[in-house]
Amino acid sequence: MIKVSHLPLAKLTTLGVGGESEVWTVHDQTELLEAMQAPYRPLGGGSNLVVSDAGVKERVILLKGSLSEIDLEADPALSSEKMHVTGWVGAGKALPALVRQVQKLGLSGLEGLVGIPATVGGAVWMNAGTRYGEMWDALYCLEIAYQGKITVHHPSDFPYQYRSSGLPQGAVVSRVRLKLTPSTPEDVQAKMDFADNARKGQPKARTAGCAFKNPNGVSAGKLIDEAGLKGLRVGNAMISHEHGNFVINLGGATAADVMELLRIVREKIGIPLEMEYEVWE
Ligand code: FAD
Ligand code: EPU
Repeated sequence: MIKVSHLPLAKLTTLGVGGESEVWTVHDQTELLEAMQAPYRPLGGGSNLVVSDAGVKERVILLKGSLSEIDLEADPALSSEKMHVTGWVGAGKALPALVRQVQKLGLSGLEGLVGIPATVGGAVWMNAGTRYGEMWDALYCLEIAYQGKITVHHPSDFPYQYRSSGLPQGAVVSRVRLKLTPSTPEDVQAKMDFADNARKGQPKARTAGCAFKNPNGVSAGKLIDEAGLKGLRVGNAMISHEHGNFVINLGGATAADVMELLRIVREKIGIPLEMEYEVWE
């Protein structure tokens, strides 16, 4: 049954800002389509979001139940010695748990996504990744809910690119199937350790990851660092001393603090910076 609650979104986001909103928790495709009958916003792990201090007026949809379950068994009709095509993986599943389970099975393909605190659906929505791989690399197909229907698509149906899936606004990813390569748990773990090593310079704090996309492959964090903006603070939102592209919440920061901080950073960096954070107003 659909569960409706009223919650401050600060509690459901990693940055920890955002006012009270109506949260609809759905457990299967039928409930999802029902929840989508009025204006809505799908919420994953809340790890790329700055939510307004007033909350949002739309229904916030959380995917649980069968939409967060996973079947990693190889589909014999689609798999071969070289390719393991899984059963369905619910979009509400936490990505770190999925990455761990896939490693234990000795399957390769998700190592580059280690350390990303997303749900599968959120990672698909923005094609999350690192220089060691992105979500699109491991997608066999995706199931989406859109305009009252559930449909299944090939990943190349969408114009995905760096940090963007190209899915139409309003599409909700409900499930995916993954294409992985048979390997060993040890080899997959070694690749995960290598990818995780690139995160050593990232802060362990309340944050939503990188605020800006890298312009033409140049690290926005490096540009912000070189401009001397680390430690810049508005209220309780601060540019991390560890990585220039991370905004951290020192405790009690507001969305207004975060947005003003980002406005100042953009003004001071000479070239246009495109936001990676999604802003819910
Ligand atoms: P949310 O933040 O909940 O939502 C983000 C957007 O996705 C929203 O527009 C939302 O509506 C949409 N969405 C969520 N679920 C669905 C769904 N089922 N269907 C359709 N749309 C949906 N990102 C990287 O790419 N690489 C990194 O290395 C990385 N490192 C990070 C490190 C830290 C410490 C943190 C906090 C964040 C990091 N991020 C990174 C950012 C973030 O984890 C990714 O953007 C992630 O994909 C967001 O997923 P989410 O489930 O948390 O989505
Ligand atoms: N650097 C600095 N100062 C800083 C930050 C970085 O000099 O404050 C330098 C580093 O020393 C390094 C270079 O810039 O030489 C690149 O830095 P890093 O390895 O941290 O990579 P990045 O380009 O800043 C990207 C992604 C991260 C991802 C890492 C690791 C974007 C916007 N950021 O950061 O993704 O985790 O690579 O692969 O693409 C995210 O998207 O939210 C995110 C965290």
